[in-house]
Amino acid sequence: MKKVSFAEFGGPEVLRLVDAEEPHAGPGQIRIAVRAAGVNPVDWRIREGQFQQAHPIELPAGVGQDAAGVVDEIGEGITDFAIGDRVFGEGSSTYAEFAVLTAWARIPGELSFEEAAGYPSVVETALRIIDQVGVRPGQTLLVSGASGGVGSAVLQIARERGITVIGTAGASNQDYLRSLGALATTYGEGWVERVRRLGRVDAALDLAGSGVIGELVELTGDPRQVITIADLGAPEFGVRFSGVAGSMPAALDEAADLLARGKLHIPVEKSYSLADAAAAHIDSRAGHTRGRRVIVV
Ligand SMILES: NC(=O)c1ccc[n+]([C@@H]2O[C@H](COP(=O)([O-])OP(=O)(O)OC[C@H]3O[C@@H](n4cnc5c(N)ncnc54)[C@H](OP(=O)(O)O)[C@@H]3O)[C@@H](O)[C@H]2O)c1
Repeated sequence: MKKVSFAEFGGPEVLRLVDAEEPHAGPGQIRIAVRAAGVNPVDWRIREGQFQQAHPIELPAGVGQDAAGVVDEIGEGITDFAIGDRVFGEGSSTYAEFAVLTAWARIPGELSFEEAAGYPSVVETALRIIDQVGVRPGQTLLVSGASGGVGSAVLQIARERGITVIGTAGASNQDYLRSLGALATTYGEGWVERVRRLGRVDAALDLAGSGVIGELVELTGDPRQVITIADLGAPEFGVRFSGVAGSMPAALDEAADLLARGKLHIPVEKSYSLADAAAAHIDSRAGHTRGRRVIVV
């Protein structure tokens, strides 16, 4: 099969489309014929070697954790899914023709593989950080960096829970944030005042890692009311950094439910072929994705 792989850490040029042995589903796993793979910033962070100290991997390595496709192999112990089922979920080396998933759910209705591949990680992250920050219905949540993958999920889940959201994004994404039910303003000089004019802030999420933790503490009045997923310096302010958790199966079921009820839709800004994975990484790393980027297999 074809798969995207890299044999050394580095820039997008280290990615290669190679012939590889097909993976097989172990106990409690399924294998899918991949139709689409979600592109996440963590994919190029791993490729650059950013996590080698904390979570070392061996080279050569595959790329990608999110995917959607058709079940074509079932591991021992799986009884409620069958060959041919349309699923989306999380596994490893998903930029490939076949991939093994460790957590998955059925794709609701007629949703395309391309769109479905965009949901797993961002919905898991959004559910996790909304719960961790402890914001309640009727309260106001400030989201810094609200127009990307995680932000798009946070805004819609918060709306569904009756939480008011103030989101910051670039000038070209203001209408996009409003279309997801948020009050919107731009980041950059004067943003704290602009947020104050939109309302009182009970809790805040930093999704962009743009060095605003101090301001988020100032706006909420309490570091315990702030969570970041992108700023490793946050603990200096008494603010929690939220890392990957193990709640993927429950998150996928909740994503499927929200999608089936028409409460969640994240647009795919651009799709790429497996051979164009490097372009997908360059575009993702530029840091201004609206919604999601996806590799279509
Ligand atoms: N710790 C975890 O569990 C976890 C999980 C998932 C992701 N992450 C990390 O969280 C970050 C966001 O992930 P993502 O998938 O949502 O990324 P993404 O889809 O690439 O979105 C990035 C967003 O950041 C916004 N942005 C850029 N510069 C900004 C600034 N100065 N101020 C405010 N917003 C700014 C962009 O908005 P405009 O286009 O409008 O400028 C864009 O929408 C990444 O660094 C990723 O590695 C961490």
